[in-house]
Amino acid sequence: MIALYPGSFDPITLGHLDIIERASPLFTRVIVAVLKNPNKTPLFTPEQRQAQIGLATAHLKNVEVDTFAGLTVAYARQRGAKVIVRGLRVLSDFDGELQMAHTNKLLAPELETLFLATASEHSFVSSSLVKEVAKLGGPIDHLVPVNVIQDLRECFPAG
Ligand code: PNS
Repeated sequence: MIALYPGSFDPITLGHLDIIERASPLFTRVIVAVLKNPNKTPLFTPEQRQAQIGLATAHLKNVEVDTFAGLTVAYARQRGAKVIVRGLRVLSDFDGELQMAHTNKLLAPELETLFLATASEHSFVSSSLVKEVAKLGGPIDHLVPVNVIQDLRECFPAG
């Protein structure tokens, strides 16, 4: 069975990576897909994010990384995915995630959303927090995969 893990991943964090590593043995294939969102101004381009995730997940042979635009369910159908994977960190994630899961169920009843609880040590980590810490020159090595540290340092050289 193919699973789709969609998201912004601007950039991928250790919390995201934890979800991918745990989804990988559950499915034949996991497609991690970066949303190309014209309404947001991301730090990294979708292609940069795709490359960052590709490097961070190179050890997981059944994980593929792609970009997509439009509805997640349309992309899932196009790729033959039957499950949408999402990580839940804290209770405040739940409202939005449940709303999304219900919307996706209405749009594509044959798809299931599977929530994985993010590992407790990463439950406070978000891409926004990572960018703020990096911008202010703080240490980010316990927040993002190693290959992303350098990319963030290049974005915020002075700290
Ligand atoms: O990493 P994020 O920003 O929490 O990911 C949110 C994402 C990309 C999964 C969500 O915004 C999404 O699925 N967007 C695509 C548009 C869509 O399908 N909308 C309807 C479902 S709410």
